[in-house]
Amino acid sequence: MDSILVKGGTPLHGKIQIAGAKNAALALMPATLLSEEPLTLTNAPRLSDIATMTALLQSLGVEVTSMQGGKVQVLSSHDMTSTTADYEIVRKMRASNLVLGPLLARHHRAIVSLPGGCAIGARPMDIHVTALEAMGAEIELKDGYLHATAKGGLRGARVPLRFASVGATENVLMAATLAKGTTIIENAAREPEIVDLAHCLRRMGAQIEGEGTSTITIQGVDRLGAATHPVVTDRIELGTYMLAPVFAGGEVECLGGRLDLVRSFVEKLDAAGVDVTETADGLKVKRRDDRARAVDITTEVFPGFPTDLQAQMMAMLCTATGTSVLEEKIFENRFMHAPELVRMGANIEVHGGTATVTGVDRLKGARVMATDLRASVSLILAGMAAEGETLVSRVYHLDRGYEHVEEKLSALGAQIERVSGS
Ligand code: UD1
Repeated sequence: MDSILVKGGTPLHGKIQIAGAKNAALALMPATLLSEEPLTLTNAPRLSDIATMTALLQSLGVEVTSMQGGKVQVLSSHDMTSTTADYEIVRKMRASNLVLGPLLARHHRAIVSLPGGCAIGARPMDIHVTALEAMGAEIELKDGYLHATAKGGLRGARVPLRFASVGATENVLMAATLAKGTTIIENAAREPEIVDLAHCLRRMGAQIEGEGTSTITIQGVDRLGAATHPVVTDRIELGTYMLAPVFAGGEVECLGGRLDLVRSFVEKLDAAGVDVTETADGLKVKRRDDRARAVDITTEVFPGFPTDLQAQMMAMLCTATGTSVLEEKIFENRFMHAPELVRMGANIEVHGGTATVTGVDRLKGARVMATDLRASVSLILAGMAAEGETLVSRVYHLDRGYEHVEEKLSALGAQIERVSGS
């Protein structure tokens, strides 16, 4: 298993290209299941989670053609062979559950394995199931699989979500495009990846209004057609690299960065003493003083502070002046990076969903272990600010969500390398 070795203390300078969003692509790819005609995604990220979704779709008979080194994906669901999402693939990635809505909508049946336990919380699927049942689906749990049928097809319905779940909103949005009549999703998630999915579905011929607000209205159509769609910028990769010069010093321009994707994050950066300026090509970031200042963070659904940037922000606050309080409201058990940061000399106390971070002058390099995707990158960032060497092991998590992280950071001057097999 690979590790990443980081030597701290080198300021970063230059430009970094932000990739297409993993979480958008993972919803856009299953949208192919809604149509017989091809869906072409451009600006696709090159990540192992995308390879997992490709394998899942291929197991259903979808033809996936990868071009330009993976940046362009052409998906065709013309000759589907299966409507069963197998446990062996689903267990690797929760987003596999996004085939449920489209399969039910076009094929009126689906058998989808439950994702099972996940390192950052229980992550059930009750919101997806209740919503699809409101649209006429019958869903039963047998042997760890959701067996779903919609005899005669799904029907449009009023679908109130008990929580603005990203995945459930995406599943219902896709399902509703081919349902009979009008679906109104209430308390819908408003994340940019949902807006991107709605744009793509509209390009395929869907009738959707209200994406990006809490109420999405979908008028079902008989069929969807071919489309070409560019994947929106990855706001989590963007936020992660925006933090890099805050850890290491220097100034970095994130190409493709957009303020509207990271507004709540930028407000916190400003309060922490970090300057973010819009440029013609993206966002430029520089810290105002040697050390950032403490800020309090509460993770929330969009447009609130994203849970997927909480670990990186916590790592940054470890060397800020003062005491910061971080509250994790989206996932239970999402502070597993805290004990690893403590091994690097951080002062963090965790009580339930709250972490209190008191800044120290300097972190010290150590051997640490990545426990999930965002935790792993937070340890790499911490390593760039630490004295000495940091070895982050189990970085397979990292490859799920960041393309060529060591190449991107070393191009900015960071001393970082991948070490095979340790
Ligand atoms: C998506 C993102 C993930 C991000 C998360 C929250 C993708 C592929 N992943 O995950 O990176 O961290 O949004 O922004 O887009 N829940 C239920 N029942 C359900 C569904 C969810 O209780 O049926 C709970 C979950 O356990 C969790 C919370 O709701 O505590 C948020 O989940 P959700 O918004 O559904 O996240 P995902 O779509 O899984």
